[in-house]
Amino acid sequence: MIYHFQELSSTNDQATQPSYHEGDVIWAERQSAGRGQRGHSWESDEGKNLTFSVLLEPTFLAPQDQFMLLRVIALSMVDTLLQFGIEARIKWTNDIYVGDKKIVGILMEHKLQGSELSRAIAGIGINVNQREFSPKLPNPTSMALLKGKEFDREQVLQVFLKSLMTRYDMLRQNEPERLIADYNSLLYRLNEWHTYALPDGELFEGRILGVEQQGALRIERKDGSECQFLFKEVEFVLNN
Ligand code: BTN
Repeated sequence: MIYHFQELSSTNDQATQPSYHEGDVIWAERQSAGRGQRGHSWESDEGKNLTFSVLLEPTFLAPQDQFMLLRVIALSMVDTLLQFGIEARIKWTNDIYVGDKKIVGILMEHKLQGSELSRAIAGIGINVNQREFSPKLPNPTSMALLKGKEFDREQVLQVFLKSLMTRYDMLRQNEPERLIADYNSLLYRLNEWHTYALPDGELFEGRILGVEQQGALRIERKDGSECQFLFKEVEFVLNN
């Protein structure tokens, strides 16, 4: 069921209410405190984009496999954009890029009950019809900027929910291999040499080889050695 609000603080916060269940969508035209990754806020012009959360109850999934949910969401988003003629890539862990520009942000939040993943909230911000962005944002783009026309947001949401059903079913039917392979093949900067930064500021040249089952990013260095990084252990250096 889709719950459409004019204003919420954050759709992810609203989705924590126990009255929502598997598959419910909480969509807000405006968020007064939209949240991004790493403590950032998420800005989106009212009425122009899609800012929503999908609630999942993946009790069949072992908590250590929670990265699979991120794969499901990211791939559903790439599938969706493709249906509107936009070829996107997944910037590990969970940004969706077209070229070197960000079009979708995803904020995943999980709740454990005992050893079960009782709830997962996928918060998604898609830049649909916004054409002007704050200069504070490093590299935004939108569907309208890319295609030179406006899109029906409800239709974009419906296509996403359909793609999500297909990808989530692959996980439910215990077919993770296809999700893992598709996620890897759609990685932004896969197999290309670029500069990366470590948390202490050190820069190095590396080439993305893929992502491990539980989500670690595999990067080869120029000396042929391979390193694996967890979330926040490595940064992409973008050429803007
Ligand atoms: C990011 O790229 O930093 C993640 C952005 C996630 C934004 C979405 S908008 C809907 C949902 N509600 C929030 O407060 N955040 C997510």
